[in-house]
Amino acid sequence: MITLQDLHRAQQIIGQRTGIVIKEHQQANLAKTLQEALEHFSIPTHAALLDLLQNCSPNEPVMEFLVNRITIGESYFFRDAEQMDFLRTVCLPQIIAAKRQEGSRSLRIWSAGCSAGQETVTLAILLHELLPDLSQWHIHLMGTDINVEALRQAISGLYQEWSFRSTTAWHRDRFFQPIGSKWRTRDSLRSMMQFTYLNLIEDAFPTTLNKTEAMDLILCRNVFIYFDQKTTAKAAAKLAECLVPGGWLILGVADLLQNQIPGCRIHIHDRYNYFQRQNSKIIEAKPCLEPIPHAIAYQKAEALQHPIDSKSQLIQLMGAEEWHPALEIINRLPIDQQKTAKILQYKAKILANMGDANQTIDLCHQSMALESTDKHLYLILGLALLEADRLNEAEASFRKALFLDRKFLECHFHLGLLLRQTNRVAPGLKSLQNALAFAEKNPPHWRIHNAANTTMERFALILQAEIALYAKRPPL
Ligand SMILES: C[S@@+](CC[C@H](N)C(=O)[O-])C[C@H]1O[C@@H](n2cnc3c(N)ncnc32)[C@H](O)[C@@H]1O
Repeated sequence: MITLQDLHRAQQIIGQRTGIVIKEHQQANLAKTLQEALEHFSIPTHAALLDLLQNCSPNEPVMEFLVNRITIGESYFFRDAEQMDFLRTVCLPQIIAAKRQEGSRSLRIWSAGCSAGQETVTLAILLHELLPDLSQWHIHLMGTDINVEALRQAISGLYQEWSFRSTTAWHRDRFFQPIGSKWRTRDSLRSMMQFTYLNLIEDAFPTTLNKTEAMDLILCRNVFIYFDQKTTAKAAAKLAECLVPGGWLILGVADLLQNQIPGCRIHIHDRYNYFQRQNSKIIEAKPCLEPIPHAIAYQKAEALQHPIDSKSQLIQLMGAEEWHPALEIINRLPIDQQKTAKILQYKAKILANMGDANQTIDLCHQSMALESTDKHLYLILGLALLEADRLNEAEASFRKALFLDRKFLECHFHLGLLLRQTNRVAPGLKSLQNALAFAEKNPPHWRIHNAANTTMERFALILQAEIALYAKRPPL
């Protein structure tokens, strides 16, 4: 029998590691799950189990066991008709129209807390309907979750009839094929989506490392309902940072936020509040609960109108991932300084993080023309080429970066994801394993160059989770 003290400690650890609040009426179930974990993994005592859970990696089997049982993965296609109408008739058409106006054919959409991918699939179907020229678009449609079992199902694309309770037979027959008593998403949808592990509490975002930057739309529905107010406010603010100015954050009807999200305009819409990211100047004008990094950085940039040493300020801002003010500093440099290989590279990195793939590619080439052989430049170019759907060129650029430094772990990682995305799963896993081997050789507290908030230790855990997700994938 677990003691009340151990049970409370378990609740605390779960809260810290996942954000999930176990309520009083769920305690009996939690006690039962912990007992099952003890027996399943032959752990001698509850205290030993809790010590393990406190610090272990997310893909430690006992952690997976617990997370798979305490998370509630209830989801279905076209969940919540009112929100679907808003997406179909207001939000997505507005985003698409703005893109067309600026001559862009790129969309970046994230379903955070996607469970087995029903929401991500719904988004893919809506895009099929709204974009008659879909094949000319680059769509980055990503689903993330902490429940590995749910993610494996999302990757397999297999669903039971129950997931279709809000789906018309027309949609089901057009976008799914029957496999026995189940249905599988057709390739036209599956090729649009990527599913990956991301913990909204423990992982760093936005960053190009996990492709969470410069999002046009984020859906995070029915996830915060399990968190407390403080955790929700923090996670919502981080999600908002991932949006481009004008980008939308959509929460579920029950994901009540008591506070405003820093930097976002709130749209009151029937039963819902929708959030739209403003540009930094508007952020400054709003009173907020917590200091907003971008606003502070903007003030820093303003103070730098006559900089004594703009370049070191620039590096500082880039290190803090404050892209808008960093760009302002570059744009204020004398023209001859703006055209050096290094500054062109910095600008490319900034624009990559702001989601402008075409300008990034152009700037990388300009920098390379000045004989730059910086491995990071080839990584940035590769990422922008990926974004522009120029996959062969992206692969060549990653390989060039690895030629310059074969221990370049970020590049092994992105090459691995690209190989996997293009159905070369075995070589993809090899590249991810290379990245893992190098990450594990570095001191655990070192930071990843292009993801300032991610340590080597955390990156190694992310890599282990990625490898496990596909290595244990059911055959398609
Ligand atoms: C009820 S489902 C919502 C699925 C989908 N968004 C929807 O509305 O239909 C909640 C999901 O949030 C995930 N989740 C809970 N805590 C999380 C965290 N810290 N990071 C990422 N996902 C989390 C759970 O694993 C679960 O799959």
